[in-house]
Amino acid sequence: MLDLNKMVEYTQPIQQDLDLFNQKLHDHLQGDSPLISSIAKHLLRSRGKRIRPVFLFLSSRAGDNFTEFSVDASLSIELIHTATLLHDDVVDESDMRRGQETVNAQWTNLISVLMGDYLFAKAFKIMVEANSIELMRSISRATERVAIGELRQIEETANYDLSEDEYISIIADKTASLFSVSCETGPILSRKDKKERENFANFGEKIGIAFQIADDLLDFVGDAEVTGKEPGIDVMTGQMTLPLIYGLNKSNKDSRKEIVKAIKAKDDKSFNRVYDFVKETGGIDYAYKRASSLAQQGLDELSAYNHSVYYERLEDMVKFTTARAS
Ligand code: IPE
Ligand code: IPE
Ligand code: MG
Ligand code: MG
Repeated sequence: MLDLNKMVEYTQPIQQDLDLFNQKLHDHLQGDSPLISSIAKHLLRSRGKRIRPVFLFLSSRAGDNFTEFSVDASLSIELIHTATLLHDDVVDESDMRRGQETVNAQWTNLISVLMGDYLFAKAFKIMVEANSIELMRSISRATERVAIGELRQIEETANYDLSEDEYISIIADKTASLFSVSCETGPILSRKDKKERENFANFGEKIGIAFQIADDLLDFVGDAEVTGKEPGIDVMTGQMTLPLIYGLNKSNKDSRKEIVKAIKAKDDKSFNRVYDFVKETGGIDYAYKRASSLAQQGLDELSAYNHSVYYERLEDMVKFTTARAS
């Protein structure tokens, strides 16, 4: 389902942090009710990539900012991420996630939404344990941004004139927010100065945007066997992503009209037509380039912290994030 083999290599220096993370996650999800227990079991069975905790631990250690509260902060952020997925799968009417049925498919929309609320509540309870108003401020703001991004995306569905800047601002809110706060957590907990916080937050923000561009590319170039979902879903449901935005910007009025018509037709040929179009207009290449240039800009933010094995593994993770197949 995902290229976890490679990630295992990159996360080797923080393996003990991840082990503690997994153990604590397991403990926190020990049921408050039989229904909660069975959903928690389902969620734990199909673990995600844990990419936000990985960035939190590697960046904290690269800046020498790892503290006794780092694992709790990562748990809080991962639970918020999981809660947003439970809500997102209802919003997107998705039936597969992480290679298995979504909670909305296996149970109901109602249960997925309420379990999402439960995970949000757990996340905020754990976050308070770190006893840092600054951390609470940053995590709360990031959570608000996820909701804003998801709502903005719904608002812009089928807006074929969406600009690249608007697209970037939506994915920054919906996705980069949690990457940014993950990377800012180290300097926050270690009470570092504003400059260091900004460097790490900017790093996470850029990497998060690149991550979502790469994720959106999978709708065009992904292999269903690997990603667990069929390509073309975003296109067919009117979600505007970078390859298509770029392609439409590059073409004349007539081709734009023809492509929008093909999308709206929602027939067997629609996606192939759009795929050929984004390929020919250079939209796919452009999106890869934009993701890797953001990744480089992100790493540049950390140029003062590039002297450890943790930084080297962060570099690997950044490459993995922008060139991934799942
Ligand atoms: C999925 O995030 C949602 C996006 C922001 C694209 P991940 O790809 O990090 O999901 P998991 O946690 O590994 O399943
Ligand atoms: C994921 O967004 C949800 C959030 C970032 C909140 P998408 O809808 O784009 O991602 P997948 O395809 O469901 O993972
Ligand atoms: Mg979705
Ligand atoms: Mg979505």
